[in-house]
Amino acid sequence: MATIEFVDVTKTYPGALRPAVDRVSFTVPEGAICMLLGTSGSGKTTLLRMVNRLIDPTSGAILIDGTPTTQRDPITLRRGIGYVIQQVGLFPHMTIAENVRVVPSILGRPASEMAARVDELLELVGLEPGEYRGRYPRQLSGGQQQRVGLARALAADPSVLLMDEPFGALDAITRERMQEELLRIQRGVRKTILFVSHDVGEALKLGDQIVVMSEGRLIQQGTPVELLAHPADDFVRRLIGGNDSILRQFEYLPVTTALEPGTGEADASDEALAADATLLHALLRMMQSGQSALRIERDGATIGHVSLASISRQVQAGSASTGAPVTAQ
Ligand SMILES: Nc1ncnc2c1ncn2[C@@H]1O[C@H](COP(=O)(O)OP(=O)(O)OP(=O)(O)O)[C@@H](O)[C@H]1O
Ligand SMILES: [Mg+2]
Repeated sequence: MATIEFVDVTKTYPGALRPAVDRVSFTVPEGAICMLLGTSGSGKTTLLRMVNRLIDPTSGAILIDGTPTTQRDPITLRRGIGYVIQQVGLFPHMTIAENVRVVPSILGRPASEMAARVDELLELVGLEPGEYRGRYPRQLSGGQQQRVGLARALAADPSVLLMDEPFGALDAITRERMQEELLRIQRGVRKTILFVSHDVGEALKLGDQIVVMSEGRLIQQGTPVELLAHPADDFVRRLIGGNDSILRQFEYLPVTTALEPGTGEADASDEALAADATLLHALLRMMQSGQSALRIERDGATIGHVSLASISRQVQAGSASTGAPVTAQ
């Protein structure tokens, strides 16, 4: 695992009038998924490509586990960093197995040693090895090729994964499946992941934290809940919320955000709701049972209650507040 630290990172392309990335500082803790969200041209890809030194910053530094990337040889550095992009970039004349083991092969590991590992990786991304390892990329669907791209990025067992709109070209159903797959993989192997996305739903779903970029600058960094509840400005509110910001809050905010002390009007003998349920869960339960308040439990103990009134207050406060920046550094 690895911590990635951006310290005052600026990139100005030759001849450009404005920096593509402008004094950006933030830290991705090890094992976290950090989503980069922002409009087209806001500098997300540039920021990502500076991590594996496909681009070097004009000023500032990127530290991985405390060591500036510029002190590392780019080739050795990239061995420890998986890179997945939207245009998968599989080698057309190589089989799926050859594609997956391309990096370890370059590192000199014998094919015989890699065979078991390739099968393991194909299984990990949900492709039956017996069926797929001998095929060529053109014999796979776009979504299946994307899975191979992910398997390839994981093959050298990198501690850092860079993903640039990896699921952008997939249909909604396949994309959702890939998101589930990534979360499942991440529960097991725990990489530090920087993930560029255009899709707010994807960012809210996958992100331990979200970094919002606009015109090269970091506008806000926070957890999905922090961004929903306290957007730093109108830009973030529009980006995150759009017209259905209230609906999103119901879907993503935990019920504890509307928690009030005691049991209130909740019937102490009724089944309680778990603390990790969402506001949407709470609302559905209330509508089913006809009760206007619910007891909330954590580890079997009552920690308070929510009511229609407390949920309504929370949601309205969230969408109306001008909000303070949460953890933008
Ligand atoms: N190689 C390059 N040379 C000059 N300018 C570049 C280069 N690559 C990107 N830019 C400019 O830098 C800015 C940021 O580009 P970048 O690709 O990082 O944006 P992005 O946030 O990834 O956008 P998108 O969501 O469209 O992929 C843009 O204004 C772009 O035109
Ligand atoms: Mg981009």
